[in-house]
Amino acid sequence: MNNKEIVAQAIYQVVKEDLTIEQVQQLLENPKSVDHGDVAFPAFALAKAYRKAPQQIAAELAEKIADTSFEKIEVVGPYLNFFMDKSAISAHVLATVIKDKNHYGDQTIGNQQAVPIDMSSPNIAKPISMGHLRSTVIGNSIGFILEKIGYQPIRINHLGDWGTQFGKLIVAYKKWGSEAAVKAEPINELLRLYVDFHEKAETDKQLEDEARAWFKKLEDGDPEAIQLWQWFRDESMKEFNKIYDMLEVSFDSLNGEAFYNDKMTEIVELLEEKHLLKEDQGAEIVDLSAYDLNPALIRKSDGATLYITRDMAAALYRKRNYDFAKSLYVVGNEQSYHFKQLKAVLKEMDFEWSDQMTHVPFGLITKDGKKLSTRKGKIVLLEEVLNEAIASANAQITEKNPNLVNKEEVAKQVGVGAVVFHDLKNDRLNNFDFTLEEVVRFEGETGPYVQYSHARAMSILEKGGFDADTAAITGLADADSWEVIKLIQRYPETILQAAEKYEPSVIAKHAIKLAQAFNKYYANVKILAEDSQKDARLALVYAVTVLLKEDLRLLGLHAPDKM
Ligand code: ARG
Repeated sequence: MNNKEIVAQAIYQVVKEDLTIEQVQQLLENPKSVDHGDVAFPAFALAKAYRKAPQQIAAELAEKIADTSFEKIEVVGPYLNFFMDKSAISAHVLATVIKDKNHYGDQTIGNQQAVPIDMSSPNIAKPISMGHLRSTVIGNSIGFILEKIGYQPIRINHLGDWGTQFGKLIVAYKKWGSEAAVKAEPINELLRLYVDFHEKAETDKQLEDEARAWFKKLEDGDPEAIQLWQWFRDESMKEFNKIYDMLEVSFDSLNGEAFYNDKMTEIVELLEEKHLLKEDQGAEIVDLSAYDLNPALIRKSDGATLYITRDMAAALYRKRNYDFAKSLYVVGNEQSYHFKQLKAVLKEMDFEWSDQMTHVPFGLITKDGKKLSTRKGKIVLLEEVLNEAIASANAQITEKNPNLVNKEEVAKQVGVGAVVFHDLKNDRLNNFDFTLEEVVRFEGETGPYVQYSHARAMSILEKGGFDADTAAITGLADADSWEVIKLIQRYPETILQAAEKYEPSVIAKHAIKLAQAFNKYYANVKILAEDSQKDARLALVYAVTVLLKEDLRLLGLHAPDKM
């Protein structure tokens, strides 16, 4: 039970006649200052039923409460302030963490149901962008969080490996490209060709038509088109895999847009059966005015299908293949309209499960306040950012801990961790401006700070010779340990909150707060003093290591033991 539940029970025993346990729970507040206790109950809610002044009600309630979970209950005006019995609660919380270890906070509400997570999904022949990094790390973390509450995440990389841009690329390659140049530097060269195409197409309108024709050939299975496409895809995948390897992210499926090319006929047939398709200047659309949305363009006049058509086929495929409980799309908020249309079209087709599809949007990464765009060639290369962060971590470790044996490995975990944590620590919808100095920072609310706090706690355990199996856990009652205990006690709720909101930042913030509370504890308390509470203090440090490591794991980061 958490503190609110304990307090709610205690009050409920006295006010049973007038309030339900849920009503009591609803009324409870978290006092702003620790001087006002851990939980507060406003007695004015009972003024009507009791026909008395709230102050009087508060005083009478305080007398009647028999529960012994509290150090004291203070009456301040109409408020009852509950001060929890720190000693009893800390002993209980620490014993629970020692028993459950990294499974502390696990829940079963997911019933092992499948949740496909559409994530990362970069576009072939273009560099993987900061936006795709966000999708990758947010999706990866949501996967871990959902798994912790009992779901089965299925990480799907819905690669952008189909669409008119391949027509453009083929045209550009055939006109201005060379095999040797692509082989030497695949993504850069393909990007150059793509940027070239757009520049030239501004004056030469015919290029767009040629590109459309080549994409149509690709859709129809023309061998030359297919062969070029396959080659671009393979070369791009090699580059993407470098990033995925660094991030240690893996996917359960790489079925991208191309995978659905042969599944489009069914979609069109289903739409026809339901009489949903309308002709519009030779193209086929579905009217969505009932949803206050623009029509969805399903097929162009030349027969070519679109992004949304492929997403419809993908949604149906996922429902059939995974029988999902929910289906998530971790994609930038600039695609919100697309996902509204996608859900609406599927709803029109009477696929009730479209209600279980959720777009999990995130904000933009800008550079000097401006949007990063691949088309204009303004990109921040992710691999360079990661390498820079690793180099910086290496330099700091060399300075602080020159004799560390696995320095290279730790530098990688810390450097990559810094980039990932920086992305995950803010509400995912916030935009943020990208500066390398900020990303590789080690102090303040950063990944390395959490990792460093974990390593520090580990070394205290080592020095203290802590043994979880034999430790005698007595209660801790001082103010510094209480701040740590509360964060440990609230962990199961924290996990649920992160899962319900699809918000890794809830975990990142918990990690920061826990690291801060622990560092304060470390500064104020002599943990290793030889007295009767040494084991309990070490148990608290142990619980901190367990939770920080678990927080980091849920975010996709390592927790090195030494750094
Ligand atoms: N490839 C797309 C892009 O980079 C993202 C795909 C998102 N997933 C989806 N099912 N539409 O913009």
